[in-house]
Amino acid sequence: MIREKIAKIAAAVNDLTAKSQEEVEALRIQYLSKKGQISELFDDFRNVPKEDKREIGQLLNQLRDAAQNKLVELKAIIDTTQSTADKHDLTRSADTIALGTRHPLSLVKEEIIDIFSRIGFSVAEGPEIEDDWHVFGALNFPPEHPARDMQDTFFIEQNPDVVLRTHTSSVQTRIMTSQQPPIRVLCPGRVYRNEAISYRAHCFFHQIEGLYIDKNVSFADLKQALLYFAKEMFGEETEIRLRPSYFPFTEPSAEMDISCDLCGGKGCNFCKHTGWVEILGCGMVDPNVLKACGIDPDVYTGYAFGMGVERIANLKYRVKDLRMFSENDVRFLQQFQ
Ligand code: PHE
Repeated sequence: MIREKIAKIAAAVNDLTAKSQEEVEALRIQYLSKKGQISELFDDFRNVPKEDKREIGQLLNQLRDAAQNKLVELKAIIDTTQSTADKHDLTRSADTIALGTRHPLSLVKEEIIDIFSRIGFSVAEGPEIEDDWHVFGALNFPPEHPARDMQDTFFIEQNPDVVLRTHTSSVQTRIMTSQQPPIRVLCPGRVYRNEAISYRAHCFFHQIEGLYIDKNVSFADLKQALLYFAKEMFGEETEIRLRPSYFPFTEPSAEMDISCDLCGGKGCNFCKHTGWVEILGCGMVDPNVLKACGIDPDVYTGYAFGMGVERIANLKYRVKDLRMFSENDVRFLQQFQ
């Protein structure tokens, strides 16, 4: 009889819960006070037969200890939850975390890299602060040649040999001097030019240049790669046209236009009614450049191209003011999810 009572109370004690210190106190009275259920069992102990006293005595002591421990435990839980609950509502659902978005220039850069990586281009980066040789000298700009002005270079007065790179062709110089062909590389990065800041020009912007050097690389290969790029980037219906141009580091050189995707080539304000928009410069790497970088121009030929990421982003997203790209106004940036 007493064994069952002990077991029943032990099970109940094990499952006790309480929401406040008052409830814990009520439980203490219910089980452990002088008139409590456990104390009553101790009173019954007198009637237990002598041979069972040892065993029942042990059970009763265990039950009392268990009840005391349980009440201490409940007290502690209420203490900690109350002290935090005073300050915080733990049942409230959490605030949503505001996720950032990719910068439009990063999105466009990644897309360009993705398109060219599918035809075997890898990516290389290099320093923004460069020496004259990597930016100009190796790239067939003769000393004192006015072409250095063509790119509105930022020179450092104390040491005119140190410049902020005006194009990422400087990274191509570094690749060509450290690696033998075949070379097939893209050079993305920030470049600097001393221009007055306006809605259409900035003193820094971003470029991606490409370089492919191997045996028997021809102008037809260049044109094919650029046509593939234009269609992937701007849509299957896009057409390209190459116009003769001049760069010291390529010969022949060209500028590439794509058919205006706003008017489909019919002519509109965006393309100044020509039906075409210019997107990049390109050409066959000048043999002098290969020679300067330690690559034999009698064995190897190559092509190069370079484009402004802002320009491509503008065509894609029609951003009217170039300065938006560097002002980091979240209202602008949040549009590019
Ligand atoms: N480096 C040139 C520029 O910054 C772009 C270019 C790259 C042109 C490669 C031809 C070949 O304008």
